[in-house]
Amino acid sequence: MDFRQYYRCPWHPGLQTVYQKKKGSTEIIITALTAPPGKTFKDIEILPWESVLPELLKRITETTENKFLILLSTYSNEENSRIAKLFPEINLIIGADRRKGNISPQIHDNCLITQTTKQGKYQGVLDITLGSIRKWGLNSDEEAANLQNKLGSLNWQLSRLEEKEQRGEKEKKRRKAIKRLKTEKQELNRQLSSVQKTIEEEKRSGTRNDCFTNRFIALAKNLPDDQATRIKVGNLNEAIRDLNRKAKETAVKSPDTSTSSLSYNIAGSEVCGTCHPSQEDFWKKTRHAKAYETLVGKRKHFDLSCLACHLTLNMQNATTANMQQKTLLGYPVELQSVGCETCHGAGKKHSIRPEQFHMVKNPAEKVCLTCHTEEHDNNFEYDRKLQLISCPTD
Ligand code: HEC
Ligand code: HEC
Ligand code: HEC
Ligand code: HEC
Repeated sequence: MDFRQYYRCPWHPGLQTVYQKKKGSTEIIITALTAPPGKTFKDIEILPWESVLPELLKRITETTENKFLILLSTYSNEENSRIAKLFPEINLIIGADRRKGNISPQIHDNCLITQTTKQGKYQGVLDITLGSIRKWGLNSDEEAANLQNKLGSLNWQLSRLEEKEQRGEKEKKRRKAIKRLKTEKQELNRQLSSVQKTIEEEKRSGTRNDCFTNRFIALAKNLPDDQATRIKVGNLNEAIRDLNRKAKETAVKSPDTSTSSLSYNIAGSEVCGTCHPSQEDFWKKTRHAKAYETLVGKRKHFDLSCLACHLTLNMQNATTANMQQKTLLGYPVELQSVGCETCHGAGKKHSIRPEQFHMVKNPAEKVCLTCHTEEHDNNFEYDRKLQLISCPTD
């Protein structure tokens, strides 16, 4: 299937009704929301949720009476709670916030928001018991049992302490504990009678809240991969590598030298080094200078999904998003690895007339973050890492 077509919904770009199924008298509807990605696609526009959700939800709620609406969302957790606030008809949001791991279920304005962390590192079971009214609440039976357990253990503690007290072992600390436990007991009894009232009320009126329980489990890091899947992924990677190897041969034979090419205004680290030898010596000792070799070592230098961050591109005004990936395969040899101009901007003009055309001296944090994304570097702190790669002054 063409990847792009998969994403394109002719009516609501970036948004599709995925799934609809009846359970009892409740219609379960799952719909999904894609946050506009860093990447831009030539023929697809992904609109923000503000402009697509109102109309879509109106359509869904118009036609369905008794429904339970689930939204899968790649937006941030904060954005998801904004969505929950604005659209009370959504009952459950399952997130995929890249910056967060597990988020245990939390009720925001009667919408449950939760996520398990990405890439299969966690498994989660969220058990939902649908009630007769669309309002999140406690499972009263379970809650009553829970409170009863707590009361039981509290009573046992109390009786032990009171026994000692009767034997005449008077102690200030113990008296305090007894007093505290008695207050707790009162509170538990109060909660229990309130839950019991709810249970009676539910029985009488026949209404029940929606309720949930969840178990999220972290998988051990050293858990072996599934062999069959591993072989499939390996074969797919081989096939991609072969295709790209062929594409590279053509790209090298006729490199893109147009003024619009990614490398057009870039001189290359070797040129910079002729006038800035001390910075070049320093840079050569950093891993940036070996970034391309790293890919070669992994046999990944034909892989378009790796190259963008392991080459010298002008990051001052580019994002990995707007790179025409094909040209990366035939990228000039002297611009392999993360060179000077990645941080200081393209410097062809500066290399000819340095006093007239100046370079960026301090690369801003956002320059680093185009490559040091959460996915590839999960402990990037600008100030600390900047020190490690700051070139020396002459
Ligand atoms: C022909 C020699 C020459 C070459 C080649 C050269 N520079 Fe410079 N560079 C200079 C001089 C001279 C200055 C000081 C300019 C000034 O103070 O007016 C300078 C200054 C800089 C500065 C400080 C900011 C500024 O512009 O004042 C940076 C950063 C820099 N160069 C990076 C680079 C990079 C990266 C390259 C390669 C693309 C490069 N230079 C190539 C001579 C050169
Ligand atoms: C074009 C992508 C790219 C940009 C932009 C970039 N980096 Fe990197 N950085 C990398 C890659 C790739 C590596 C790992 C290279 C390897 O090991 O092969 C790396 C490695 C590093 C390291 C480890 C260096 C060492 O020698 O141990 C530090 C620190 C670092 N980067 C800091 C920064 C900072 C700070 C910025 C912004 C000023 C920045 N990087 C901008 C791609 C980039
Ligand atoms: C979005 C930018 C980006 C992309 C795309 C990218 N990398 Fe990197 N890579 C980095 C950065 C940044 C580092 C340095 C991380 C650090 O210093 O901890 C790095 C480091 C590495 C390292 C050395 C450190 C390690 O983890 O062993 C290897 C190997 C590597 N990348 C391979 C790859 C491969 C293979 C691909 C393609 C599947 C790829 N990279 C795609 C940014 C990227
Ligand atoms: C990963 C980003 C990065 C790369 C790659 C990089 N630099 Fe730098 N460079 C810096 C930072 C950060 C500073 C420090 C700026 C400061 O302290 O004000 C700096 C400072 C400089 C300066 C100014 C020093 C001064 O006089 O204050 C020059 C010149 C320079 N770099 C040249 C180069 C050259 C040449 C290369 C490649 C051989 C290179 N840089 C590669 C980040 C980088």
